[in-house]
Formats: sequence, C-alpha cells, structure tokens
Amino acid sequence: MEKILVLDFGGQYNQLIARRVRDHHIYAEILPYTTPLSVIRENGYKGIIFTGGPNSVYDETSPHYEKGILELGVPVLGICYGCQLMAYLSGGTVSTAPVSEYGKIELTVLKEESPLFADVPKTSTVWMSHTDYISAAPEGFEVIAKTENCPCAAMQNPGKKLYAVQFHPEVTHSVYGDKMLENFLYKVCGCKGDWKMDSFIDDTVKALREQIGDKHVILGLSGGVDSSVAAGLLSRAVGKQLICVFVDQGLMRKNEGDFVEETFTKLFDMQFVRVNCGDVFLSKLKGVTDPEEKRHIIGDAFYEVFWDEIKKRAHGDAFFAQGTIYPDRIESGKGASGKGAGSAVIKTHHNQRALPDDVDFLGVIEPLKDLFKDEVRAVGEKLGIPHELVWRQPFPGPGLGVRILGEITAEKIRIVQDADAVLRDEMAKNGYEKNLSQFFTVYTGAKAVGVMGDHRTYENVIAIRAITTDDFMTADWARIPYDILATVSNRITNEVDGINRVVYDITSKPPGTVEWE
Ligand code: XMP
Repeated sequence: MEKILVLDFGGQYNQLIARRVRDHHIYAEILPYTTPLSVIRENGYKGIIFTGGPNSVYDETSPHYEKGILELGVPVLGICYGCQLMAYLSGGTVSTAPVSEYGKIELTVLKEESPLFADVPKTSTVWMSHTDYISAAPEGFEVIAKTENCPCAAMQNPGKKLYAVQFHPEVTHSVYGDKMLENFLYKVCGCKGDWKMDSFIDDTVKALREQIGDKHVILGLSGGVDSSVAAGLLSRAVGKQLICVFVDQGLMRKNEGDFVEETFTKLFDMQFVRVNCGDVFLSKLKGVTDPEEKRHIIGDAFYEVFWDEIKKRAHGDAFFAQGTIYPDRIESGKGASGKGAGSAVIKTHHNQRALPDDVDFLGVIEPLKDLFKDEVRAVGEKLGIPHELVWRQPFPGPGLGVRILGEITAEKIRIVQDADAVLRDEMAKNGYEKNLSQFFTVYTGAKAVGVMGDHRTYENVIAIRAITTDDFMTADWARIPYDILATVSNRITNEVDGINRVVYDITSKPPGTVEWE
C-alpha cells in the first residue's frame, strides 16, 4: 500500500493534512518529528510532508530534523514552518518578515510549469499565517510563487523532488490548495491512489480472520459510531466467534437500547449480550446531586458491570476488541506510533481506563485504529450499518446522567427521555437535524407554576439544547426557526406528563459547555 508520511512539527492543522491526503485515496500517517530517520527510511514512504509548527527555525527549542531526510530520494513537501525548515536545512536564509501575513492573501505563480501548479491559475487566494519568511532561497532551489509581502511563497528543487509552500494548502481558504496537494501526491510522488474503503474492508476482514483463527473475540459495544463499526467489521470477519457486550445502564435515549439490540441481532451474525443494569445504577446514584460525583459513580459502575460480564467469558483464550480510532491515538506534536499504541489503554465510552489486572486476553484488536472519523463512517455505510447509527451525534458516556440536574430518579429519566424523543421526532420531520451538530433536552431540576384548563400546575421545566460546531471545543447555540421551536414546545407540554414549561438554552460555548453537567 502506498503511504505518505506527515511529519509532525506541532502545527495545528496536522490531522487535517493527513485527512486531505487520504481524501485523495492515499494512506497518510502522522509521526512525530522525533521519529528516527532509519524508521522513516524503512517504512518506504512515497512522499513526506513537513507540517507547520508554532516556532521559528532559529529558536533553539524548536523542532528540527536531520538533513538526511532531504537526501532519501523521497519527495518532500514543506508547509509553512516545514517550508522554512526545508530552506534552513538546505542552506537558505529565514528571517523575520518585515510584514507578517495572516489570513487570505493573493498568491502569484511565477513558474507555471511547476508540477505543483498544474491546473492552478496564475493568481489565487491562499491562507497564510507566518511571521518568519524565506529571504533567500537555498542553492539549487528556484522560487516558484510569491505574494505581495512574501517574495518566496513557494520554492522547488525538482532534481531532488523537494517542494515547499509558505501557505497552508490543506485549509479550504486556500482555494487551489487541495489541487496543489493532489499535484504533489500524483505528479511528484507518482502515487496511484490505492487507499479505498472497499479494499480497506476486504484487507481488514482477511487480516482479522487470520489473527483470530478459531478463537473468540469480545467487544464492548456502546451503540456509538466507533464501536458499532468495529462490531460490523468483526462480525463480517468471524461471525459467531464475536461476542458483543452491550451494557444498558438505563441512561440512554428513549428506546435506544432496543434499537441497538435489534440492529445488531437482526443485521449481523454475532453473539449479542445485553446487560440491563439500570436498577443497579439508580441505586448507586440515589441521593447523589454533585455533578462530578455522579459522573464518577456512573463511570465506576459501568466499569464494574462491564468487566464482570467480560470476565465470565474471557479465560485467556479470547481476544479483546475495541473501537479506538486514529485521532484517539494522536497527541499533537507526538503522532501515533502506528504500532497499536492505544493498546494498553482501554477505551470504554466512559473516559479511558486501564485494563483490569485479573483479566487475561490473547491480545487487543483495534480494527479502526488507523481511520479518521469520516472514514469510519464510510466503512460503516459500506458494511450496511443503519444510517442512523453511522451518523449518530456524540452521546456522552454518562448518558442522561449529565442531562438530569440534581438527583437521578427513574421518573426524571422518563421525563427527559420522552421530551427528547419529541424533540428528535420534530427535528427529523422538519429535516432540520442536518443543520445541527447536537441537540437534546435537559431536565433542569427547576419547577414552575403553570395553568392547564382551570387548574394551576406546579411542574418541571425542560430545556432544549441545540448547538452548531466544527469541533465541539467551541460551539454556538443553534438559531432554530421559531415555528419549529413552537411546535416542539407545544408537543412536549401536551404529550409529556410532568412538564409545564419549555425553555431554550441560548448560551454558546464558552462560557457554557454543551452538556449541562
Ligand atoms: P462539553 O459538555 O464538554 O461537551 O462541552 C463536548 C462534547 O463532549 C460530549 N461529552 C462527553 N462525551 N464522555 C463522552 O464520551 C463524557 O463524559 C462527556 N461529556 C461531554 C458532549 O456530548 C459534547 O458532544
């Protein structure tokens, strides 16, 4: 398989670079700049991309690399800091730019014949973010593009297959950036594009069969996207040798446990074990009101129930599988090891915890460990997992536990579930859900006075939370049209017993979080 190395110098867009490469059907992996040259040589990459980074190449603490990487004969593309590093390593001069550039800037191509600029117009907008610049290109390099304040916005040494751009081709603001990346991959590196989800599925299924043989494999299924897709792949590989353990802690959305069970028992060949333990959770949560304490209790109880169930089935003769995905393994500036680094840490849907000491497995299997989320979804669709599961919104590990303020009781769970079901139904009917990143209802714990017919009521206040976001680190409250909100509010107060008032949360993140607890 063709592979591109994204050598990570700590820039903020490094995962994006790898994703863009993969969008062009070429596998890309991210490794830290501390990876030895011998490893890079052995891995047989078709090309290398130096990422951006926050530093100046003259800063002693900034990440560097040995010059030998430019002598491997493997094409290299330097981006932003990576561009300056290439210049520095090759004997050029990097200086503080008289005018630093930030944002959308017009690029002028000086060398239209450069393979990097095939089908790229002479002028186009690119995204810049730099205070240093290359003031003198290294010997053997020619300047191939400039901007008003950056005389060397791109350079090349075609004989050595070295290319560098001061701007960020990976962000969409660089209008022809993706074309330039494609040009680097296909015209400079000579890639053919063999990273396709169909072949990923075939290859993975084959490898899983070989690894698992006639043994069993146990997977913790949460009903989230990652574990569901992992289950789909493993089921295709080994069928009934797969045992999926699904812990229903009673804090899921309305009918969700049944939906997950039905999906996996009807559509896939596997042994499906559902552990219904809502009562255990409720009794542990009795009287507890502190949000952090509630989270801990739910996390601990989950761990206990889950591993008790697994220990019944694992006696050193089975594998353990989990839905770890690529971003779970990458920390910025460090990169994933590419050798199953996540194996020692078990990803339940409640934070990461170590595997218990007293459980013995043949090994840990992570079939999705090299995939980005959008690739996981593509695999899920191809495996026939329902759209609703594959495109599911994030759901917090502690479930409705963080959407019920104050003590958690069966009645409050029922109220928040019923209200949430109405909200979801309306969003689906209106086709509005595609505009939202996440939406749900919250049991606020407040009670309000109301009137119903001739009677005064004193009942619960439910809040609607709906957000839009790219990354969940920041979020904005969604501007849902008033008429949709009106219908939702009417239906909730009419259809759900125990609610007489509905409010809409108009807090962005920050200062609010997405969840209420
Ligand atoms: P916050 O509330 O921190 O949420 O703004 C950001 C995103 O993370 C989800 N979330 C969690 N996911 N375990 C999870 O797996 C948790 O404990 C947890 N808490 C919040 C939340 O739903 C949102 O998508």
